[in-house]
Amino acid sequence: MKISVIGCGYLGAVHAASMAQLGHDVIGIDVDRAKIDSLSQGKAPFFEPDLPELLIAGIEAGSLRFSSDMADVAGSVVHFVAVGTPQQKSGTGADLSYVDAAIEGLLPHLAPGDLVVGKSTVPVGTAERLAAIIEPTGAQLAWNPEFLREGYAVKDTISPDRLVYGVRREDPSASVASLPPASGGGGASRQEARRAVAILNEVYAQAIAADTPLVVTDYATSELVKVAANAFLATKISFINAMAEIAEVAGADVTELADAIGYDARIGRKFLNAGVGFGGGCLPKDIRAFTARAEELGRGESVAFLKEVDAINLRRRDRVVELVVDALGGSAFQKKVAVLGLAFKPNSDDIRDSPALDVAVRLHGLGAHVVATDPEAIANSKLKHPQLAFGSTAEALKGADIVVVVTEWNEYRSLDPVELASVVDGTIVVDGRNCLDVAAWRGAGWRYIGLGRR
Ligand code: UGA
Repeated sequence: MKISVIGCGYLGAVHAASMAQLGHDVIGIDVDRAKIDSLSQGKAPFFEPDLPELLIAGIEAGSLRFSSDMADVAGSVVHFVAVGTPQQKSGTGADLSYVDAAIEGLLPHLAPGDLVVGKSTVPVGTAERLAAIIEPTGAQLAWNPEFLREGYAVKDTISPDRLVYGVRREDPSASVASLPPASGGGGASRQEARRAVAILNEVYAQAIAADTPLVVTDYATSELVKVAANAFLATKISFINAMAEIAEVAGADVTELADAIGYDARIGRKFLNAGVGFGGGCLPKDIRAFTARAEELGRGESVAFLKEVDAINLRRRDRVVELVVDALGGSAFQKKVAVLGLAFKPNSDDIRDSPALDVAVRLHGLGAHVVATDPEAIANSKLKHPQLAFGSTAEALKGADIVVVVTEWNEYRSLDPVELASVVDGTIVVDGRNCLDVAAWRGAGWRYIGLGRR
Protein backbone atom coordinates (compact mmCIF):
# COMPACT_ATOMS: atom_id res chain seq x y z
CA MET A 1 0.00 0.00 0.00
CA LYS A 2 1.07 3.58 -0.51
CA ILE A 3 1.46 5.08 2.93
CA SER A 4 2.47 8.44 4.34
CA VAL A 5 3.56 8.98 7.94
CA ILE A 6 3.27 12.54 9.23
CA GLY A 7 5.73 13.18 12.05
CA CYS A 8 9.05 11.34 12.19
CA GLY A 9 9.88 11.34 15.90
CA TYR A 10 10.25 8.18 18.01
CA LEU A 11 6.84 6.92 16.95
CA GLY A 12 6.69 8.09 13.32
CA ALA A 13 10.23 7.19 12.23
CA VAL A 14 9.86 3.68 13.61
CA HIS A 15 6.40 3.33 12.09
CA ALA A 16 7.56 4.52 8.66
CA ALA A 17 10.57 2.19 8.61
CA SER A 18 8.50 -0.75 9.89
CA MET A 19 5.74 -0.20 7.31
CA ALA A 20 8.40 -0.25 4.56
CA GLN A 21 9.79 -3.45 6.06
CA LEU A 22 6.29 -4.95 5.85
CA GLY A 23 6.32 -4.33 2.10
CA HIS A 24 4.53 -0.99 1.82
CA ASP A 25 5.64 2.05 -0.15
CA VAL A 26 6.23 4.72 2.48
CA ILE A 27 6.94 8.44 2.64
CA GLY A 28 7.76 9.98 6.01
CA ILE A 29 7.04 13.70 6.46
CA ASP A 30 8.41 16.02 9.13
CA VAL A 31 8.79 19.79 9.42
CA ASP A 32 12.27 19.33 10.91
CA ARG A 33 14.62 19.37 7.90
CA ALA A 34 17.63 18.20 9.90
CA LYS A 35 15.66 15.12 10.97
CA ILE A 36 14.56 14.46 7.39
CA ASP A 37 18.15 14.80 6.09
CA SER A 38 19.39 12.38 8.71
CA LEU A 39 16.62 9.84 8.08
CA SER A 40 17.08 10.12 4.30
CA GLN A 41 20.70 9.06 4.80
CA GLY A 42 19.54 6.06 6.80
CA LYS A 43 20.64 7.59 10.10
CA ALA A 44 18.24 7.39 13.03
CA PRO A 45 18.13 10.74 14.88
CA PHE A 46 17.81 8.85 18.18
CA PHE A 47 18.98 5.53 19.61
CA GLU A 48 16.61 2.67 18.91
CA PRO A 49 17.83 -0.90 18.39
CA ASP A 50 17.22 -2.29 14.85
CA LEU A 51 15.99 1.04 13.46
CA PRO A 52 19.17 1.98 11.51
CA GLU A 53 19.16 -1.40 9.74
CA LEU A 54 15.49 -0.99 8.79
CA LEU A 55 16.03 2.55 7.53
CA ILE A 56 18.92 1.51 5.31
CA ALA A 57 17.06 -1.53 3.98
CA GLY A 58 13.96 0.54 3.13
CA ILE A 59 15.90 3.36 1.50
CA GLU A 60 18.04 0.98 -0.55
CA ALA A 61 14.96 -0.95 -1.69
CA GLY A 62 13.33 2.33 -2.76
CA SER A 63 10.30 1.69 -0.55
CA LEU A 64 11.12 4.33 2.08
CA ARG A 65 11.56 8.07 1.49
CA PHE A 66 11.49 11.12 3.72
CA SER A 67 10.50 14.69 2.92
CA SER A 68 9.70 17.98 4.63
CA ASP A 69 7.18 18.87 1.92
CA MET A 70 3.64 17.80 2.81
CA ALA A 71 2.74 17.80 -0.92
CA ASP A 72 4.81 14.61 -1.20
CA VAL A 73 2.00 12.65 0.47
CA ALA A 74 0.22 12.80 -2.92
CA GLY A 75 -0.43 9.29 -4.15
CA SER A 76 -0.55 7.78 -0.68
CA VAL A 77 -3.93 6.37 0.31
CA VAL A 78 -3.26 5.84 3.99
CA HIS A 79 -1.88 8.74 6.04
CA PHE A 80 -0.67 7.97 9.55
CA VAL A 81 -0.51 10.94 11.90
CA ALA A 82 2.27 10.24 14.40
CA VAL A 83 3.24 13.67 15.73
CA GLY A 84 3.94 14.35 19.39
CA THR A 85 1.39 15.46 21.98
CA PRO A 86 3.65 16.81 24.75
CA GLN A 87 2.48 18.28 28.02
CA GLN A 88 1.30 21.88 27.63
CA LYS A 89 3.88 24.46 28.71
CA SER A 90 1.41 26.05 31.11
CA GLY A 91 -0.79 23.25 32.39
CA THR A 92 -1.03 19.49 32.61
CA GLY A 93 -3.18 18.85 29.51
CA ALA A 94 -1.83 17.60 26.19
CA ASP A 95 -0.58 20.15 23.66
CA LEU A 96 -2.47 19.27 20.48
CA SER A 97 -0.93 21.98 18.31
CA TYR A 98 1.22 19.49 16.37
CA VAL A 99 -1.75 17.22 15.67
CA ASP A 100 -3.86 20.15 14.54
CA ALA A 101 -1.05 21.48 12.33
CA ALA A 102 -0.53 18.03 10.79
CA ILE A 103 -4.21 17.67 9.90
CA GLU A 104 -4.39 21.22 8.56
CA GLY A 105 -1.29 20.61 6.41
CA LEU A 106 -2.67 17.30 5.17
CA LEU A 107 -6.17 18.52 4.24
CA PRO A 108 -5.35 20.09 0.83
CA HIS A 109 -3.64 16.87 -0.24
CA LEU A 110 -6.37 14.42 0.73
CA ALA A 111 -8.31 12.63 -2.00
CA PRO A 112 -11.74 11.01 -1.68
CA GLY A 113 -11.31 7.48 -0.35
CA ASP A 114 -8.07 8.23 1.53
CA LEU A 115 -7.82 7.00 5.09
CA VAL A 116 -6.24 9.24 7.73
CA VAL A 117 -5.08 7.15 10.70
CA GLY A 118 -4.35 8.84 14.01
CA LYS A 119 -1.56 7.20 16.02
CA SER A 120 -0.70 10.05 18.39
CA THR A 121 -1.87 9.77 22.00
CA VAL A 122 -4.72 12.26 22.31
CA PRO A 123 -7.37 13.28 24.84
CA VAL A 124 -10.64 11.45 24.31
CA GLY A 125 -12.88 13.42 21.95
CA THR A 126 -10.07 14.56 19.64
CA ALA A 127 -10.79 12.04 16.87
CA GLU A 128 -14.46 13.03 16.69
CA ARG A 129 -13.42 16.67 16.26
CA LEU A 130 -10.80 15.85 13.62
CA ALA A 131 -13.17 13.57 11.69
CA ALA A 132 -15.51 16.51 11.18
CA ILE A 133 -12.65 18.44 9.57
CA ILE A 134 -11.46 15.54 7.41
CA GLU A 135 -14.74 14.09 6.14
CA PRO A 136 -15.69 17.01 3.84
CA THR A 137 -12.65 16.08 1.67
CA GLY A 138 -14.14 12.64 1.04
CA ALA A 139 -11.39 11.04 3.14
CA GLN A 140 -12.17 9.35 6.44
CA LEU A 141 -10.50 8.97 9.81
CA ALA A 142 -9.60 5.97 11.92
CA TRP A 143 -7.79 5.98 15.28
CA ASN A 144 -5.14 3.33 15.76
CA PRO A 145 -3.23 3.81 19.02
CA GLU A 146 0.33 2.62 19.34
CA PHE A 147 1.64 0.57 22.25
CA LEU A 148 5.32 0.37 21.37
CA ARG A 149 7.96 0.52 24.06
CA GLU A 150 11.13 2.44 23.41
CA GLY A 151 14.02 0.03 23.11
CA TYR A 152 11.70 -2.56 21.53
CA ALA A 153 9.91 -0.20 19.18
CA VAL A 154 10.63 -2.05 15.92
CA LYS A 155 9.58 -5.42 17.29
CA ASP A 156 6.46 -3.92 18.92
CA THR A 157 5.45 -2.26 15.62
CA ILE A 158 6.03 -5.25 13.36
CA SER A 159 4.65 -7.82 15.81
CA PRO A 160 2.25 -5.92 18.10
CA ASP A 161 0.57 -7.73 20.98
CA ARG A 162 -2.77 -6.30 19.91
CA LEU A 163 -4.30 -3.98 17.30
CA VAL A 164 -6.97 -1.44 18.11
CA TYR A 165 -8.95 0.33 15.39
CA GLY A 166 -11.25 3.19 16.33
CA VAL A 167 -13.71 3.86 13.50
CA ARG A 168 -16.74 6.04 13.00
CA ARG A 169 -19.83 4.33 14.31
CA GLU A 170 -23.26 5.88 14.33
CA ASP A 171 -24.64 2.93 16.19
CA PRO A 172 -22.11 2.13 18.90
CA SER A 173 -23.93 -1.10 19.76
CA ALA A 174 -23.22 -2.56 16.31
CA SER A 175 -20.02 -4.58 16.14
CA VAL A 176 -18.15 -3.41 13.05
CA ALA A 177 -16.28 -6.69 12.76
CA SER A 178 -19.55 -8.58 12.51
CA LEU A 179 -21.23 -6.25 10.02
CA PRO A 180 -22.49 -7.93 6.84
CA PRO A 181 -20.30 -7.55 3.74
CA ALA A 182 -20.46 -4.32 1.72
CA SER A 183 -23.34 -5.61 -0.43
CA GLY A 184 -25.26 -6.32 2.77
CA GLY A 185 -26.42 -2.75 3.10
CA GLY A 186 -26.17 -0.57 6.18
CA GLY A 187 -25.78 3.20 6.43
CA ALA A 188 -23.06 5.14 4.64
CA SER A 189 -21.00 5.50 7.80
CA ARG A 190 -21.18 1.75 8.48
CA GLN A 191 -19.93 1.08 4.96
CA GLU A 192 -17.10 3.53 5.56
CA ALA A 193 -16.23 1.96 8.87
CA ARG A 194 -16.06 -1.43 7.16
CA ARG A 195 -13.81 0.03 4.49
CA ALA A 196 -11.49 1.57 7.10
CA VAL A 197 -11.20 -1.81 8.82
CA ALA A 198 -10.44 -3.51 5.49
CA ILE A 199 -7.70 -0.97 4.67
CA LEU A 200 -6.09 -1.29 8.11
CA ASN A 201 -6.24 -5.07 7.84
CA GLU A 202 -4.29 -4.79 4.60
CA VAL A 203 -1.73 -2.46 6.22
CA TYR A 204 -1.29 -4.92 9.08
CA ALA A 205 -1.75 -8.05 6.96
CA GLN A 206 1.24 -9.81 8.55
CA ALA A 207 0.03 -9.25 12.12
CA ILE A 208 -3.53 -10.19 11.18
CA ALA A 209 -2.28 -13.41 9.56
CA ALA A 210 -0.43 -14.16 12.81
CA ASP A 211 -3.76 -13.99 14.68
CA THR A 212 -2.84 -10.83 16.59
CA PRO A 213 -5.84 -9.91 18.75
CA LEU A 214 -7.85 -7.14 17.09
CA VAL A 215 -10.30 -4.83 18.79
CA VAL A 216 -12.49 -2.77 16.47
CA THR A 217 -14.27 -0.05 18.33
CA ASP A 218 -15.38 3.57 18.23
CA TYR A 219 -13.15 6.63 18.29
CA ALA A 220 -13.62 7.41 21.98
CA THR A 221 -12.81 3.89 23.17
CA SER A 222 -9.70 3.67 21.00
CA GLU A 223 -8.42 6.97 22.40
CA LEU A 224 -9.16 5.84 25.96
CA VAL A 225 -7.54 2.41 25.48
CA LYS A 226 -4.19 4.08 25.01
CA VAL A 227 -4.31 6.38 28.03
CA ALA A 228 -5.94 3.70 30.18
CA ALA A 229 -3.11 1.27 29.35
CA ASN A 230 -0.42 3.81 30.27
CA ALA A 231 -2.35 4.89 33.37
CA PHE A 232 -2.55 1.26 34.48
CA LEU A 233 1.19 0.70 33.94
CA ALA A 234 2.04 3.90 35.81
CA THR A 235 -0.26 2.87 38.65
CA LYS A 236 1.36 -0.55 38.87
CA ILE A 237 4.82 1.02 39.18
CA SER A 238 3.67 3.56 41.75
CA PHE A 239 1.88 0.83 43.69
CA ILE A 240 5.10 -1.11 44.15
CA ASN A 241 6.97 2.10 44.94
CA ALA A 242 4.38 2.88 47.62
CA MET A 243 5.05 -0.60 49.02
CA ALA A 244 8.76 0.29 48.93
CA GLU A 245 8.04 3.33 51.08
CA ILE A 246 6.27 1.15 53.63
CA ALA A 247 8.94 -1.56 53.44
CA GLU A 248 11.58 1.04 54.24
CA VAL A 249 10.01 1.94 57.58
CA ALA A 250 8.81 -1.58 58.40
CA GLY A 251 12.13 -3.32 57.79
CA ALA A 252 10.69 -5.38 54.92
CA ASP A 253 12.05 -6.04 51.42
CA VAL A 254 10.05 -4.81 48.44
CA THR A 255 11.71 -7.07 45.87
CA GLU A 256 10.78 -10.19 47.82
CA LEU A 257 7.30 -8.75 48.24
CA ALA A 258 7.05 -8.14 44.47
CA ASP A 259 8.21 -11.69 43.74
CA ALA A 260 5.67 -13.10 46.15
CA ILE A 261 2.66 -11.14 44.90
CA GLY A 262 3.84 -11.47 41.30
CA TYR A 263 3.36 -15.26 41.45
CA ASP A 264 -0.36 -14.54 41.54
CA ALA A 265 -1.18 -14.68 37.83
CA ARG A 266 -3.87 -12.05 38.33
CA ILE A 267 -1.19 -9.63 39.53
CA GLY A 268 1.87 -10.70 37.53
CA ARG A 269 5.50 -9.77 38.22
CA LYS A 270 5.96 -7.42 35.24
CA PHE A 271 6.12 -3.68 35.99
CA LEU A 272 6.55 -4.36 39.69
CA ASN A 273 10.14 -3.19 39.90
CA ALA A 274 10.47 -0.62 42.63
CA GLY A 275 13.11 2.05 42.23
CA VAL A 276 13.54 5.64 41.21
CA GLY A 277 10.28 5.48 39.28
CA PHE A 278 8.95 6.02 35.79
CA GLY A 279 9.88 8.71 33.31
CA GLY A 280 10.03 9.14 29.55
CA GLY A 281 7.93 10.92 26.98
CA CYS A 282 4.76 8.89 27.65
CA LEU A 283 3.76 7.69 31.12
CA PRO A 284 4.25 10.96 33.05
CA LYS A 285 2.60 13.26 30.52
CA ASP A 286 -0.14 10.77 29.67
CA ILE A 287 -1.37 10.42 33.26
CA ARG A 288 -1.37 14.20 33.65
CA ALA A 289 -3.22 14.75 30.35
CA PHE A 290 -5.73 12.04 31.28
CA THR A 291 -6.42 13.74 34.61
CA ALA A 292 -6.83 17.12 32.89
CA ARG A 293 -9.23 15.66 30.30
CA ALA A 294 -11.29 13.82 32.93
CA GLU A 295 -11.64 17.10 34.84
CA GLU A 296 -12.82 18.83 31.64
CA LEU A 297 -15.40 16.07 31.27
CA GLY A 298 -16.60 16.60 34.85
CA ARG A 299 -15.19 13.26 36.02
CA GLY A 300 -11.99 14.39 37.68
CA GLU A 301 -12.72 12.27 40.75
CA SER A 302 -12.66 9.07 38.66
CA VAL A 303 -8.94 9.41 38.02
CA ALA A 304 -7.96 11.55 40.99
CA PHE A 305 -5.78 8.63 42.11
CA LEU A 306 -3.49 9.36 39.16
CA LYS A 307 -2.34 12.52 40.94
CA GLU A 308 -1.21 10.29 43.80
CA VAL A 309 0.45 7.95 41.28
CA ASP A 310 2.37 10.95 39.97
CA ALA A 311 3.23 12.17 43.49
CA ILE A 312 4.51 8.75 44.63
CA ASN A 313 6.61 8.57 41.50
CA LEU A 314 8.20 11.97 42.03
CA ARG A 315 8.83 11.21 45.73
CA ARG A 316 11.11 8.34 44.71
CA ARG A 317 13.53 10.82 43.18
CA ASP A 318 13.61 12.76 46.47
CA ARG A 319 14.23 9.49 48.26
CA VAL A 320 17.25 8.54 46.15
CA VAL A 321 18.79 11.97 46.73
CA GLU A 322 18.03 11.67 50.46
CA LEU A 323 19.67 8.23 50.64
CA VAL A 324 22.79 9.55 48.91
CA VAL A 325 23.05 12.55 51.24
CA ASP A 326 22.48 10.41 54.34
CA ALA A 327 25.06 7.87 53.20
CA LEU A 328 27.55 10.70 52.76
CA GLY A 329 27.04 11.73 56.36
CA GLY A 330 24.43 14.45 55.87
CA SER A 331 25.92 16.53 53.08
CA ALA A 332 26.84 15.92 49.45
CA PHE A 333 28.80 19.18 49.25
CA GLN A 334 32.04 18.69 47.31
CA LYS A 335 31.67 14.92 47.41
CA LYS A 336 32.36 13.09 44.18
CA VAL A 337 29.22 11.25 43.10
CA ALA A 338 29.30 8.76 40.20
CA VAL A 339 25.84 8.75 38.61
CA LEU A 340 25.44 5.66 36.42
CA GLY A 341 22.61 6.23 33.98
CA LEU A 342 20.89 9.25 32.45
CA ALA A 343 18.30 7.76 30.07
CA PHE A 344 14.80 7.17 31.46
CA LYS A 345 15.33 3.47 30.86
CA PRO A 346 17.96 1.18 29.29
CA ASN A 347 18.30 0.75 25.51
CA SER A 348 17.27 4.34 24.94
CA ASP A 349 18.93 7.74 24.69
CA ASP A 350 15.67 9.42 25.70
CA ILE A 351 16.03 11.79 28.66
CA ARG A 352 12.50 13.21 28.61
CA ASP A 353 11.33 13.40 32.22
CA SER A 354 14.14 11.02 33.14
CA PRO A 355 14.37 10.23 36.86
CA ALA A 356 18.07 9.43 36.39
CA LEU A 357 18.94 12.82 34.93
CA ASP A 358 16.79 14.52 37.55
CA VAL A 359 18.73 12.82 40.36
CA ALA A 360 22.04 13.91 38.77
CA VAL A 361 20.82 17.51 38.47
CA ARG A 362 19.55 17.61 42.06
CA LEU A 363 22.79 16.23 43.49
CA HIS A 364 24.73 18.79 41.46
CA GLY A 365 22.42 21.45 42.91
CA LEU A 366 23.43 20.31 46.41
CA GLY A 367 27.03 21.10 45.61
CA ALA A 368 28.17 17.55 44.87
CA HIS A 369 30.82 16.98 42.21
CA VAL A 370 28.64 14.80 40.02
CA VAL A 371 30.18 12.90 37.13
CA ALA A 372 27.36 11.30 35.17
CA THR A 373 27.58 8.64 32.54
CA ASP A 374 25.33 6.66 30.22
CA PRO A 375 26.03 4.40 27.23
CA GLU A 376 23.77 6.45 24.92
CA ALA A 377 22.24 9.49 26.61
CA ILE A 378 25.24 11.75 27.35
CA ALA A 379 24.85 13.90 24.22
CA ASN A 380 21.17 14.65 24.91
CA SER A 381 21.85 15.28 28.60
CA LYS A 382 24.71 17.67 27.82
CA LEU A 383 22.43 19.78 25.62
CA LYS A 384 19.83 20.07 28.37
CA HIS A 385 22.12 20.33 31.39
CA PRO A 386 25.53 21.63 30.31
CA GLN A 387 26.30 22.45 33.96
CA LEU A 388 26.82 18.74 34.72
CA ALA A 389 30.12 16.92 34.25
CA PHE A 390 29.91 13.85 32.02
CA GLY A 391 32.40 11.08 31.40
CA SER A 392 32.94 7.41 30.70
CA THR A 393 31.98 4.83 33.33
CA ALA A 394 35.63 4.64 34.38
CA GLU A 395 35.89 8.43 34.66
CA ALA A 396 32.71 8.62 36.72
CA LEU A 397 33.84 5.89 39.09
CA LYS A 398 37.46 6.98 39.60
CA GLY A 399 37.80 8.38 43.13
CA ALA A 400 34.01 8.53 43.67
CA ASP A 401 32.80 8.87 47.25
CA ILE A 402 29.55 7.14 46.33
CA VAL A 403 28.09 5.31 43.32
CA VAL A 404 24.44 5.84 42.32
CA VAL A 405 22.84 3.51 39.76
CA VAL A 406 19.74 5.11 38.26
CA THR A 407 19.29 3.39 34.87
CA GLU A 408 19.60 -0.39 34.80
CA TRP A 409 21.78 -0.79 31.71
CA ASN A 410 23.26 -4.30 31.49
CA GLU A 411 26.76 -2.90 31.66
CA TYR A 412 26.03 -1.46 35.11
CA ARG A 413 24.35 -4.64 36.33
CA SER A 414 27.43 -6.60 35.34
CA LEU A 415 30.03 -4.31 36.93
CA ASP A 416 32.47 -6.26 39.07
CA PRO A 417 32.16 -4.93 42.64
CA VAL A 418 35.52 -6.43 43.65
CA GLU A 419 37.39 -4.65 40.87
CA LEU A 420 35.42 -1.44 41.43
CA ALA A 421 36.25 -1.30 45.13
CA SER A 422 39.86 -0.47 44.24
CA VAL A 423 38.82 2.34 41.88
CA VAL A 424 36.49 4.37 44.10
CA ASP A 425 37.25 6.30 47.29
CA GLY A 426 34.08 5.26 49.10
CA THR A 427 32.58 1.79 48.76
CA ILE A 428 28.95 2.91 49.04
CA VAL A 429 26.42 2.13 46.31
CA VAL A 430 22.84 3.42 46.08
CA ASP A 431 20.97 1.08 43.76
CA GLY A 432 18.14 3.28 42.48
CA ARG A 433 16.82 0.47 40.27
CA ASN A 434 17.27 -2.49 42.62
CA CYS A 435 19.15 -4.11 39.79
CA LEU A 436 22.46 -5.13 41.36
CA ASP A 437 23.40 -8.46 42.91
CA VAL A 438 23.19 -7.48 46.59
CA ALA A 439 25.13 -10.48 47.89
CA ALA A 440 27.99 -9.89 45.43
CA TRP A 441 28.29 -6.20 46.29
CA ARG A 442 28.06 -6.74 50.04
CA GLY A 443 30.45 -9.66 49.71
CA ALA A 444 32.97 -7.34 48.05
CA GLY A 445 32.80 -5.03 51.06
CA TRP A 446 30.36 -2.46 49.74
CA ARG A 447 27.69 -0.75 51.76
CA TYR A 448 24.68 -1.52 49.56
CA ILE A 449 21.59 0.70 49.77
CA GLY A 450 18.55 -0.28 47.70
CA LEU A 451 15.07 1.22 47.55
CA GLY A 452 12.61 -0.50 49.83
CA ARG A 453 15.25 -3.12 50.64
CA ARG A 454 16.38 -4.39 54.00
C1 UGA B 1 5.32 3.18 27.58
C2 UGA B 1 4.39 1.95 27.52
O1 UGA B 1 5.01 0.87 28.21
C3 UGA B 1 4.12 1.56 26.06
O2 UGA B 1 3.20 0.49 26.03
C4 UGA B 1 3.51 2.78 25.36
O3 UGA B 1 3.28 2.49 23.98
C5 UGA B 1 4.48 3.93 25.45
O4 UGA B 1 4.74 4.24 26.82
C6 UGA B 1 3.87 5.10 24.74
O5 UGA B 1 2.88 5.65 25.23
O6 UGA B 1 4.32 5.45 23.64
P1 UGA B 1 7.95 3.53 27.31
O7 UGA B 1 7.71 4.97 27.66
O8 UGA B 1 8.84 3.19 26.17
O9 UGA B 1 6.56 2.79 27.00
O10 UGA B 1 8.59 2.87 28.61
P2 UGA B 1 8.22 1.74 29.64
O11 UGA B 1 8.93 0.49 29.30
O12 UGA B 1 6.77 1.66 29.88
O13 UGA B 1 8.90 2.33 30.95
C7 UGA B 1 8.45 3.57 31.48
C8 UGA B 1 9.21 3.92 32.73
O14 UGA B 1 8.80 3.09 33.80
C9 UGA B 1 10.72 3.81 32.65
O15 UGA B 1 11.29 4.95 33.26
C10 UGA B 1 11.01 2.56 33.45
O16 UGA B 1 12.29 2.59 34.02
C11 UGA B 1 9.94 2.62 34.49
N1 UGA B 1 9.60 1.31 35.11
C12 UGA B 1 9.12 0.30 34.34
C13 UGA B 1 9.77 1.13 36.47
O17 UGA B 1 10.20 2.05 37.20
N2 UGA B 1 9.43 -0.07 37.03
C14 UGA B 1 8.96 -1.10 36.29
O18 UGA B 1 8.67 -2.16 36.86
C15 UGA B 1 8.79 -0.90 34.90
